[in-house]
Amino acid sequence: MASILGFGGYAPERVMTNDDWAALIDTSDEWITTRTGIKKRHFASDDEATVDLAGKASLVALEDAGLTSEDIDEIIVATDTPEAYTPDTASFLQHYLGCREVPAYDLGGSGCAGFVQALDVARARLLLEPKRILVVGVELISRLMSWEDRSFCVLFGDAAGAVVVARDGGAAELVHVVAGTDGSQTDILTLKTGGTRHPFNAESLASGAFNHLDMDGKRVFREAVHRMSQAVVDVTGHIGKGVADVDLVIPHQANKRIIDAVQQKMGVDDSRVFVNVHDYGNTGSATVPFALWEALGKGRISEGDLVVLTAFGAGFHWAAAALQF
Ligand SMILES: CC(C)(COP(=O)(O)OP(=O)(O)OC[C@H]1O[C@@H](n2cnc3c(N)ncnc32)[C@H](O)[C@@H]1OP(=O)(O)O)[C@@H](O)C(=O)NCCC(=O)NCCS
Repeated sequence: MASILGFGGYAPERVMTNDDWAALIDTSDEWITTRTGIKKRHFASDDEATVDLAGKASLVALEDAGLTSEDIDEIIVATDTPEAYTPDTASFLQHYLGCREVPAYDLGGSGCAGFVQALDVARARLLLEPKRILVVGVELISRLMSWEDRSFCVLFGDAAGAVVVARDGGAAELVHVVAGTDGSQTDILTLKTGGTRHPFNAESLASGAFNHLDMDGKRVFREAVHRMSQAVVDVTGHIGKGVADVDLVIPHQANKRIIDAVQQKMGVDDSRVFVNVHDYGNTGSATVPFALWEALGKGRISEGDLVVLTAFGAGFHWAAAALQF
């Protein structure tokens, strides 16, 4: 009932290496590499904003699908780093691409699980009527994060990934999606300032709270491993398969150590897991669609393969999708 017609990705040209970070703050290539596996990340140029990244990835996905922006019937954008506070990035994207006046909306604030959750929404929308839905995960974190908080800034990068989903006719069937939330854990990864509980004011500006992310790294790590591996078991179980049947797992690219731990927990060897966190860092909701696009480009996926996307993010949210190529 849901099928992916085209895949796209975009990472900005500017590259920031670990040594570049070490020249700015008290860190080192050695610390970042051993703790995260990240070697470099891409940052948007000064004249790029979220819609530019989303737009470029979308155009690649549209071309891959053999479609134009006129063919799109609905747009869903997953992002935590929107073009503006309001309206949503999807509105900007509709205009950027020159789409018809179609429904467009964001799945905002769902952290790095946002894209897989958006796939689930697209799948449900297709049950109502046949459409071509553009689903985008995009993040321009470098513009909004603190460049002084070393425990946070070195982890992230900017990128976008996109797919076009329809009822049928694509290279991959979107067989099933599982998703969940544990809202008792909102505190382990949160940017509090800017909402109604803690509005922007002179005090938050002066203290730096306006761009300070509270992150309990160790708890996030533990939850991520548990939720991402369990989501793979759940989504494969739902379609009558097991982890052993999965040809490629594409996990959220937050940290190589998290990916290694997920792999170990599932008993899956390196040949069945796609990793690109060393080149791009954590690009939030963009990691999964971008990695999917890159895995296809690198010939890591063949016809007949069962591919599972799995992600976690602030919320605490998690989601996994099974794709049959
Ligand atoms: C953040 C993370 C890499 C930290 O790794 P860790 O092994 O837990 O780090 P440790 O707690 O052992 O080390 C922390 C020490 O390194 C220091 N440190 C933090 N960032 C540093 C940096 N960039 N460079 C050098 N030292 C750094 C800290 O100040 C602390 O020093 P202290 O022990 O003297 O206080 C890890 O917890 C993690 O990956 N968590 C998940 C985060 C994540 O994925 N977030 C995004 C979710 S979408």
